Amino acid sequence: MNILAIESSCDETAAAIVKDGSEILSNVVVSQIDIFKAYGGVIPEVAARSHLEAIMPVIRQAFAEAELTWDDIDAIAVTHTPGLLGSLLIGTLTARTLAILHNKPLYAVHHLKSHIYACWLGNAVPNFPLLALIVSGGHTQIIYMKKHNDFKIIGTTRDDAVGECYDKVAKILGLPYPGGPSIAKAAEHGNPEKYHLPHPKLDNPYDFSFSGLKTAVLRAVQKELGKPISFPSHELAPLLSEQQIADFAASFQKTATDILLENLQSAYQNYQNINSIVIAGGVSANTMLREKTFKVFSEEYKRSAAGVRSTPRVTLKENTLKVFFPERCFSGDNAAMVAAAAYHEIKSGVRPTDPYHLTLAPRSEIR
Ligand code: KG4
Ligand code: ZN
Repeated sequence: MNILAIESSCDETAAAIVKDGSEILSNVVVSQIDIFKAYGGVIPEVAARSHLEAIMPVIRQAFAEAELTWDDIDAIAVTHTPGLLGSLLIGTLTARTLAILHNKPLYAVHHLKSHIYACWLGNAVPNFPLLALIVSGGHTQIIYMKKHNDFKIIGTTRDDAVGECYDKVAKILGLPYPGGPSIAKAAEHGNPEKYHLPHPKLDNPYDFSFSGLKTAVLRAVQKELGKPISFPSHELAPLLSEQQIADFAASFQKTATDILLENLQSAYQNYQNINSIVIAGGVSANTMLREKTFKVFSEEYKRSAAGVRSTPRVTLKENTLKVFFPERCFSGDNAAMVAAAAYHEIKSGVRPTDPYHLTLAPRSEIR
């Protein structure tokens, strides 16, 4: 089954054709990052206009790269929630029009499902039950999946998402947008133990809170410089030396990573028979997060196999637990992951959407 997928929820215009939910026949992503570097963040109106310019050429290129025509397409999938309203509008209107024009079934896909299903692209096959950690610019959630297309949110952020926190801390440090890659780069030369930043303690051990961490970085920068200049300020960052920026970036990255993994580890310890951990969304490209996850869960696995864990898991067999990250090119927003999610929705019996009546929601929970 060949699915043409379209993604335009934020600042990437993307189209892809994917066979049977995993074989990528084409994958085209046009990023607006260069436009928004100048502003230090996404401007919704500008993003929508850029999608409008890019969307048809991107779709045409997806067909050209796959060397396919409309006759080869079995269904169209599109992101319809959550995201920036104007951006979602361009993708969904395009998909609806093409579905009507070419008489193809249309599937409206939740953006976070797509991020999770990026872990099924290529040859990877995570096993259920699994825990998914979503780490994107807009969301930070731990989701329990017993089977395909079955999502139970067990932890979520009470305020900022982790990606948003990366972006805000980058601004404090005077590093360019998007903050994730620039913090990771600056952190390479920094000391992660230099500044001690707080870990929030919440009543639900799987919930997150990142706004305090961002403020803690700001206060630490002010203290370091001996200047109580408040943010936003153009005066604070230029006073930091390159080494101070690197140390702040490294200390922040370590703290953010540890917070994510502490909660994920708690969930793993308390949910029975977890066979896979999948981590997806823009922040999943982060090398420290990738390396620490493998380290933490191989130790966790050894502990549980030795019977040290608090909740014994009877069905644990050797090498049962596997950790999955998407390929780096599928961590951020792309359309191949939308096609993968739609494929598993179809296999799970989800019906197509009426292209004449598709509604949009800038915010909505995964279901
Ligand atoms: O999933 P995504 O592309 O878009 C949303 O759905 O939000 O995530 C974007 C987020 C941004 O906050 C960006 O700073 C972050 O992912 N990001 C990273 C890295 N690459 C992108 N964060 C940490 N390390 C990275 N290497
Ligand atoms: Zn995303």
